[in-house]
Amino acid sequence: MKIIKVQNNEEAGLKAAEIFKKEIKNNPKCVLGLATGSTPKTTYKHLIKFHKHNDLDFSDVKTFNLDEYYPIKKENIQSYHYFMHIKLFDHINVKPENVNIIDGECDDYQKSCDDFEKMIEENPIDIQLLGIGSNGHIAFNEPNTPFTQKTHLVQLTESTINDNARFFDHHEEIPLHALTMGLATIMKAKKIVLIATGKNKANAVKHMIQGDKTPLCPASILQDHSDCTIIVDEEAAELIEE
Ligand code: PGA
Repeated sequence: MKIIKVQNNEEAGLKAAEIFKKEIKNNPKCVLGLATGSTPKTTYKHLIKFHKHNDLDFSDVKTFNLDEYYPIKKENIQSYHYFMHIKLFDHINVKPENVNIIDGECDDYQKSCDDFEKMIEENPIDIQLLGIGSNGHIAFNEPNTPFTQKTHLVQLTESTINDNARFFDHHEEIPLHALTMGLATIMKAKKIVLIATGKNKANAVKHMIQGDKTPLCPASILQDHSDCTIIVDEEAAELIEE
């Protein structure tokens, strides 16, 4: 793992956006793995700036998102479909047919998961952006998810439901399930860039980097990835031992 220490989320977003820009410039047809949540917002802000001011071209880029709540309508403002359009896709020249977000409206979730996994197999992800949950989850792979898991339905844990409560007006509106790339799916990405910022991520970051490799901390699987960069701010890096 390569660790890049920065001061705050703003700087983390810029660093990650620069890494993505380099990837897209080197390979205009690259496949991006994207993430939602608070963490990647600054990355998307900088990618939009690069598009508008430096002509960063997304016209041949393909994207896959890590996850989506289930069930949820696309137009629901809490859906990850909505988030990605508002925060990134509406502001760059990615083609709608090149955007892949797992369908949170489908009836047959198993088929959606299998189709999504197959699409990724046919279009291997060149660079995957990740956040990390305070319980060490990546995407919606909660503690105790087998490392071999592919795209699947998950029941969200109390900790993740509470972490996400800030995005919903009423607690009972928070979906209890999600569809997510599995840990095995994520590990197939050629490059991984994980951003962790803020005090509440410090324990998870310590375990991910210096703890045992165990499904109790899903992010610890990244210790085995051959090209994984962790961008961490001062607060999230607080418990890392030098
Ligand atoms: P956050 O979530 O960016 O909203 O902190 C990260 C995650 O749960 O992966």
